[in-house]
Amino acid sequence: MNAGVFCFSGTGNTWWVSNQLAAALGRRGCPAEVYSIEKLDANDAQIIIQKSDILIFSYPVYGSFMPWPMKGFIDGLLQADEEKDIAVICTQMMFSGDGAWFYHRAFEEKGYKVKWTFHFNMPNNISIGIFPFPYTVDENKINRILKKCAGKVEKAAESISSGIGSLKGAGPASRLMGLMQRPAYVKLVRRPFNSPYSVDIEKCNLCRKCIMMCPENNIVLENGRISFGENCTLCLRCYNYCPQTAISAYGKAHDPKKPPYRGPEGFDPVKIASAKILSDFNE
Ligand SMILES: Cc1cc2nc3c(=O)[nH]c(=O)nc-3n(C[C@H](O)[C@H](O)[C@H](O)COP(=O)(O)O)c2cc1C
Ligand code: SF4
Ligand code: SF4
Repeated sequence: MNAGVFCFSGTGNTWWVSNQLAAALGRRGCPAEVYSIEKLDANDAQIIIQKSDILIFSYPVYGSFMPWPMKGFIDGLLQADEEKDIAVICTQMMFSGDGAWFYHRAFEEKGYKVKWTFHFNMPNNISIGIFPFPYTVDENKINRILKKCAGKVEKAAESISSGIGSLKGAGPASRLMGLMQRPAYVKLVRRPFNSPYSVDIEKCNLCRKCIMMCPENNIVLENGRISFGENCTLCLRCYNYCPQTAISAYGKAHDPKKPPYRGPEGFDPVKIASAKILSDFNE
């Protein structure tokens, strides 16, 4: 038995969880490979699907929704030619209600049955000053969150490798929570969506890293300046990973009390935007 993990990660958390899960599955005799969906087309995906016994889809929740790149990837999948069980795993800072279960119909339409759903709490990546969510870049606190999460990942791997289904967030209370949370984020899943960013031209050195890392090709260099289009999925990658912290959100520069979130160690936002097989990038 083997597994293929289709991963979208804005700032590194979901990448980390996906790799932890792949390693935990490997220890249980189910080798797993993690793929970045950012450069995979439907044909690449089909090859991976055909060679994997179990499929896993991983993404961060954005107000109980999935990010646009992941939704586009799922919508673009070819129809399944054999029934396959899938797991959906979400990372979140606190809660999303039914963030992993909400899209089960989209998967069913493609011929996949959602057998497992899991939510993993990870550090909050919303470093934008105006948002009141608890935020930390304290290494000790982050390590505690990661340790707790790693324990949950082991349990998820046990459930997946033993074939025993587990649907977290599919109950009525979780679905109600998701239902209540989604309206606040509806703007995010409507296109066009204008990114709330602007660039401080004094700080920006035109290194173009933001252009290279954007999963939605939403950033361009025009007339000697960086500018943003209307395809933002608000993954916060450019905002957090600009080496000059030159990107402002909602007209405000980075809050010194909220330094940028740079994800678990080893995450490379430029590489994830261009790599297909994430173990290649991990090496
Ligand atoms: C636009 C946006 C919306 C988010 N909404 C939620 C949410 O509703 N609930 C939650 O617990 N975390 C929420 N988060 C936090 C992220 O889901 C969390 O930090 C996640 O692990 C980030 O994963 P990544 O590093 O792979 O992008 C949100 C983050 C962003 C950027
Ligand atoms: S990553 Fe930052 S410094 Fe580099 S081009 Fe983009 S905004 Fe400018
Ligand atoms: S513009 Fe920035 S936040 Fe928006 S999708 Fe691109 S990298 Fe993510």
